Amino acid sequence: MGFEFTDTHINEYHQLGFTVFRDLVPPSLLGDLRREADKGRVIARQVRGEQAQRLQPLVKYSEMDMKPFDDLYDLPALQDALNRLFAGAFGAPVDPHASRGLTGVLYEPAGRPWSCGWHRDWRDNVRALDVAEWERRMGDIQMFNQINCALYDDSCTWVVPGSHLRRDTPGEVRRFPERPTQKPVTEGMSAEEAERFCRDYTVSMPGAFQAHLNAGDYMLYRNTLWHSGNYVPYRRRATIHDAVFSEAYQAFFKKPPLRPNQADGSPPDWINPNTNG
Ligand SMILES: [Fe+2]
Repeated sequence: MGFEFTDTHINEYHQLGFTVFRDLVPPSLLGDLRREADKGRVIARQVRGEQAQRLQPLVKYSEMDMKPFDDLYDLPALQDALNRLFAGAFGAPVDPHASRGLTGVLYEPAGRPWSCGWHRDWRDNVRALDVAEWERRMGDIQMFNQINCALYDDSCTWVVPGSHLRRDTPGEVRRFPERPTQKPVTEGMSAEEAERFCRDYTVSMPGAFQAHLNAGDYMLYRNTLWHSGNYVPYRRRATIHDAVFSEAYQAFFKKPPLRPNQADGSPPDWINPNTNG
């Protein structure tokens, strides 16, 4: 069955904060993307060691052939789906190529189980961010749209559905009272202990939901949603990770709003705004 866009995608996206375009990637393109992504895994481990979980941005690495990624963005079914989903909210047709300089691939670590930890992007991973401004804009549909496109079956991504529509609940505040949010630390554990520890950490979030993607599925989600990634080395992962850029979100990326005491021209205290699992 090929992908077909329906109103359910629109309803899910607005109500839950994520939706999945099932089987969006045709088999021949999936083969091309896998070949490039598998090449990228080797590069990622050369650059960052066996625990590498991503290569990003791909354009930085001359060995990578961007053609299959461009072919993905050129898919008429994708362009049609994004334009129907955002329904003119960007003030211009959605251009999937706009974020080409950011496109990456997420990989399974080779060494030991790992979780990136629960967070909402920007608020929890850019220390100097003006959080009041982020809260003011968190409902803006032009902003904070992100994708995970699975090239192999992928069940690493966890979300709290609907959390993009509200501030933290009392249960979430109790679970994660500090910023940045506490991440699972597994030093000194065996691989099996680390795997169980990361899983316990992941399911300890109230309302946690595991997203299951099949190879070729394209998940679109609000990165204002509580989300996390939980990985094990024995399950292969190569998932394209990207944003859907409007002009407004591109501008936010280039110059994120910083807290007043950081607005003196000094560089922002980056972690990575695009961290995800
Ligand atoms: Fe994230």
